[in-house]
Amino acid sequence: MAVVQNSWILGHSHHIWRYVPVEVTLSSILVRFLGVLALGFLVLGAKGQDLEVLQPPGALSVSAGETLTLTCTVRGTGPPGGVKWHKGSDRKQPIYSERGQYPSRVTRVVAGSQTDFSIRISNIRPEDAGTFYCVKYRAGSQETEFKSGVGTEVSVIATPSQPSIEGPASRVLSGTSATFNCTSDGFSPRAIKVTWLKDNTRIVSPEPTVLPEGDSISYQVLSSAQVPLTRDDVKSQLICQIEHETLQSPLREFFKLGDILRVPPRVKLEANPANPVPLNESVTFSCSAEGFYPEDTTLALTLNSSLSETGTAEPMAQNGDGTFTLRSSLKLNATEERNQSAFTCLVMQNSQPVATETSVLNIRVLTEGSESVSMEPGRCSPVLRPSIRVDLNFSFLSVSLCLGLLAFRPLHTLTGSSYSSQEKQPLCMQ
Ligand SMILES: *[C@@H]1O[C@H](CO)[C@@H](O)[C@H](O)[C@H]1NC(C)=O
Ligand SMILES: *[C@@H]1O[C@H](CO)[C@@H](O)[C@H](O)[C@H]1NC(C)=O
Ligand SMILES: *[C@@H]1O[C@H](CO)[C@@H](O)[C@H](O)[C@H]1NC(C)=O
Ligand SMILES: *[C@@H]1O[C@H](CO)[C@@H](O)[C@H](O)[C@H]1NC(C)=O
Repeated sequence: MAVVQNSWILGHSHHIWRYVPVEVTLSSILVRFLGVLALGFLVLGAKGQDLEVLQPPGALSVSAGETLTLTCTVRGTGPPGGVKWHKGSDRKQPIYSERGQYPSRVTRVVAGSQTDFSIRISNIRPEDAGTFYCVKYRAGSQETEFKSGVGTEVSVIATPSQPSIEGPASRVLSGTSATFNCTSDGFSPRAIKVTWLKDNTRIVSPEPTVLPEGDSISYQVLSSAQVPLTRDDVKSQLICQIEHETLQSPLREFFKLGDILRVPPRVKLEANPANPVPLNESVTFSCSAEGFYPEDTTLALTLNSSLSETGTAEPMAQNGDGTFTLRSSLKLNATEERNQSAFTCLVMQNSQPVATETSVLNIRVLTEGSESVSMEPGRCSPVLRPSIRVDLNFSFLSVSLCLGLLAFRPLHTLTGSSYSSQEKQPLCMQ
């Protein structure tokens, strides 16, 4: 009986073959008899179905795009029937069987082998993650599962997508802060680091949210940061930086803060010479709107809100920091009817008034004997008048000096030597 058993065993299973020498070493006939009997029961009882489906223990992780090798060997004997691969314990996702159509991504490692059922899956995707089972089936009119391997858990390491930054929907005023969101997805495993920078300065932000909360084939990250905005940020770059174990260097996305920043202008209205202005003297009112951003700003300088007397605008200038400056000036004679006239500078940004500066022209009457500098034509000879006009564009000091010099030099005038403006000017400048 034992001989028959052994030859049967030899023909079918290497696994059981190894038991035979063990049996031989037992000296006791009784023990040997019982051993053979036990073996016989084992073999006969299982009807040659001692088959084992071996999947190596432990989880695998593979990078997206790479080839995954799933190992499965079958040993021992079992009923007729094929071996299949499934993903998930519910057997609802067939991966491979000898018959049937399967994606060309899946191939046998040893084609046609009846013991090695290992497969390769090329070009792995995050959705391939899961537990893969190597399953032996029992053939029949209704195929039934005979034995399954323990399963191989596969996680797919996937790189995060290029992050994207979303800023506020409308422009935000300098001096306040704006909320920015940075997202990236498709990565696995879940651990990820998000850093915010404004140019080279780190911006402290709360821990990012990684979704979904539970286990998943891939994850999405959302990080929010409150970014303080200053007038100097027109050219600043906001950076969302992502670090993940699959990345050799961090992923960075840039956002120009100038795209969402609004810097209000600094408005200044000045009169030159300053009020009060001598009667009939030329006076220049200039209004400037400095350091604004973006360009959607207008400036209008008007006299008594009339449309006829308006300032002459200079072309918009861009400053080194990226902001802009607008300037407009209105030059006129301080005639009596303009006394108490209002000069108004209206600055609009994005069609909204942001500043209105007003200055009232105060004209000073110059009377003889007063402490004020007299401008009356009678005081200076007609020849000198043009020169004096030029000098008055300088300070009061030079005016006084000039007149003082004139007082000491009446003879020159009387002797007929005429002053050219070229000669006169240096004297007045002293
Ligand atoms: C100022 O100018 C007006 C008109 O040009 C003239 O009529 C007037 O006499 C001038 N007044 C003085 C003080 O120069
Ligand atoms: C100012 O007055 C002078 C002479 O009185 C005249 O030549 C000049 O055109 C006037 N300037 C303006 C801006 O009206
Ligand atoms: C501007 O208004 C003031 C005050 O109403 C008036 O005195 C002045 O004559 C006006 N000036 C002009 C140029 O109309
Ligand atoms: C201009 O108006 C002020 C205030 O009403 C007055 O003091 C000044 O004398 C006026 N100047 C002239 C030239 O009329």
